[in-house]
Amino acid sequence: MAAPSGKIPRHDPPRRFPHRHLLAISDLSRSDIEFLLDRAEAFTPLAEQRVKKLDALKGRTLINLFFEPSTRTQSSFELAGKRLGADVVNMSASSSSVTKGETLIDTAATLNAMSPDLLVVRHGSSGAAELLARKVSCSVINAGDGQHEHPTQALLDALTIRREIGRIEGVRIAICGDVMHSRVARSNALLLTMLGAEVRLVGPPTLLPASSARWGASVHHDMKEGLAGADVVMMLRLQRERMQGGFIPSAREFFWFYGLDEEKLRHAKPGAFVMHPGPMNRGVEIDSAIADDARISLIERQVKMGVALRMAVLVALAEHGANESGE
Ligand code: NCD
Repeated sequence: MAAPSGKIPRHDPPRRFPHRHLLAISDLSRSDIEFLLDRAEAFTPLAEQRVKKLDALKGRTLINLFFEPSTRTQSSFELAGKRLGADVVNMSASSSSVTKGETLIDTAATLNAMSPDLLVVRHGSSGAAELLARKVSCSVINAGDGQHEHPTQALLDALTIRREIGRIEGVRIAICGDVMHSRVARSNALLLTMLGAEVRLVGPPTLLPASSARWGASVHHDMKEGLAGADVVMMLRLQRERMQGGFIPSAREFFWFYGLDEEKLRHAKPGAFVMHPGPMNRGVEIDSAIADDARISLIERQVKMGVALRMAVLVALAEHGANESGE
């Protein structure tokens, strides 16, 4: 469905997103997730249009507050906000008063005083987004909090899978590598199992958290076994910035056992797709020949879906706020 310029694409019958914030997949129901995916689907044609701007968030203010480095997530939220007509302010920790010792709560109070409508936050501590949500009066979106969750990444991954395979129910997905430090893995495992996918977590015992048994997924230490018959292989970055001590002997050895190359991918279903949230460490968790093969790699499509999905989230939360204030 093409979005006529200036109008929000609507789905019939109009449903409502019942949450004020988007902090974690674990807060959502299956119908909340489907609502956001359907909404995002309607925004996807916009990227193909010459004029990509709507006015759904005209006059609204979105603040992007990033305490950790980010390329795709931050620019994706920025573009999503701008395509919806919002005023977007980007703040990163290195250019903010955080480097001068200001705490998260002080920063939140300062930003709150400027009356934003939407606050997107990425922070190195698990629970930071939730803490912020309790201190500000606008909607908060978690763009990654420590090792906890990264809900919009899981939603955009689900949108990508649904578009490429046509469904999520019954799809077999292997999430491989540094599961332990990955908020992407946690959010994806929760979302995909809720939507009926079969999720497998694959990695060395040192990089699989004990809690993963509660994520509704099976656990495998061998790529051959974990990838057997998989429809989708999702690779994760080795998050060395979250590792203290030796979780792996060396990057070379890690690639030998767990790096995705053509030989290991042969164990997945013929025609299986490969995903990666980025940034990639080529030659560590994924071979370039796989990452750059447009027939199997969905990596660029994930980025593309990210903007549509974030537009859907921003509109859903802004509508929720408008309903609450009686607009
Ligand atoms: C991920 C993140 O920040 O959690 N990246 C992203 O948002 N695309 C994964 C990672 O950093 O490895």
